Amino acid sequence: MAYQTVKGTYDLLPEKMLRFNELSALFRQFLDLYGYSEIKTPVFEYTGVFKKENDTSDMVTKEMYSFSMNDKDSFTLRPEGTAGVIRSFVEHKMYGNAELPVKLAYIEEMFRHERPQKGRQRQFTQMGIECIGDKNPLIDAEVIALGYFFVKTLGLSSIKVCINTLGDNESRLQYKKDLTDYFTPYKDQLCFDCQNRLEKNPLRILDCKVDHESDIIKNAPKMKLTESASAYFEQVKNYLDVLEIPYIVDDRLVRGLDYYTDTVFEVISTHEESGSQSTIFGGGRYDNLVKEMGGPDISGIGFAIGVERLCILAEAEGVFEEYKPQIDCYVINLFERAEYALRVSEILRNNGLTCEMDYYGRSLKAQFKSSERKNARFVLIIGEDEIKENTVTLKDTLTRAQESVKLEELTDRIDQLLEDYYE
Ligand code: HAM
Repeated sequence: MAYQTVKGTYDLLPEKMLRFNELSALFRQFLDLYGYSEIKTPVFEYTGVFKKENDTSDMVTKEMYSFSMNDKDSFTLRPEGTAGVIRSFVEHKMYGNAELPVKLAYIEEMFRHERPQKGRQRQFTQMGIECIGDKNPLIDAEVIALGYFFVKTLGLSSIKVCINTLGDNESRLQYKKDLTDYFTPYKDQLCFDCQNRLEKNPLRILDCKVDHESDIIKNAPKMKLTESASAYFEQVKNYLDVLEIPYIVDDRLVRGLDYYTDTVFEVISTHEESGSQSTIFGGGRYDNLVKEMGGPDISGIGFAIGVERLCILAEAEGVFEEYKPQIDCYVINLFERAEYALRVSEILRNNGLTCEMDYYGRSLKAQFKSSERKNARFVLIIGEDEIKENTVTLKDTLTRAQESVKLEELTDRIDQLLEDYYE
């Protein structure tokens, strides 16, 4: 039987993989610039790491891949990066670090049992950061800046930054009450999930995917921020202005996960290729998550970029250069045995030159074709005479010059030719 990938998963073929690596390399440069260190947490954790009591998010209630091997413990494949990083932060008592906040980052696979479509898979990759240990609008602005300038440096232009505040604990508590009072008379008109959210977390009704355009939701009361929550948000916006990051304040942006407090943000693609899955990345502050995980009462903030969605947009905007294979050397072997050619290839590689050789003893023409397909800069031809004289015939495919070179002088000669050419 010929198998195919499981629905919602996909193979990253070499050309796409190069693009993923390109994105990861640029992201890692930004991690360096802003002082983040990468960490790796397990692909699966105890379910409790992700699932908190009264959680109303779709991710936790419907989309987690959970399993048990002994009917005692329940495990879950990581649906997002933040919870595992915070678990690790608490487990390893990183809050004791002399230097807070602790800045952690990850590039990892996530798993959610969602209905697959373009830009939405069941296995996908997130590049994320978490800045844990301090609550300060400077940090909120810096976190948004890292993500924003990363996608701008990548070359994306059709994006917009949306921000909002979910207030501090006091304003949010009051707002939940206001929303409960407002939505209760309309309970029967809300979708099934929102009826449930009304009891557990009415804020998430504002993020309803089913009734997003309904007047009931559109006319919902706005949050009344406490003075300090309002001042905090004003400071975040002020710092974004200083950094010249354009943004839209969207007071219905509540995000799809339950742990957020204060600042939340999303970067949305406005390119038609992105379709309905247009959120390239999202994140926000979480005041209570560290404490809920058994750590001290400290706040964190972070975001995660969906790499597949980023790739779709980057391809649509044409930011990737066309992939063209290229190697330094191709060894053409015309002798019946391959030992000498094998030795030559290894000498080249030991000196940092990328090299491929013929494995099959094919005709000269066929081997030349291979060297052209691989875009070899130099072709090294080996026949009986070269082996006897301990030489190779070196052909520079750019200048078309050909010469006989002693084996012990080969790599110096190639370095010389490269140097001369680029001078
Ligand atoms: P999230 O909004 O659930 O947030 O996911 C972040 C990003 O991951 C989304 O904007 C999207 O690009 C991508 N993504 C989510 N689900 C899928 C999917 N099924 N297929 C493809 N891409 C997807 C979080 O996960 C938070 N942990 C972010 C965060 C970090 N908040 C604070 N720190």
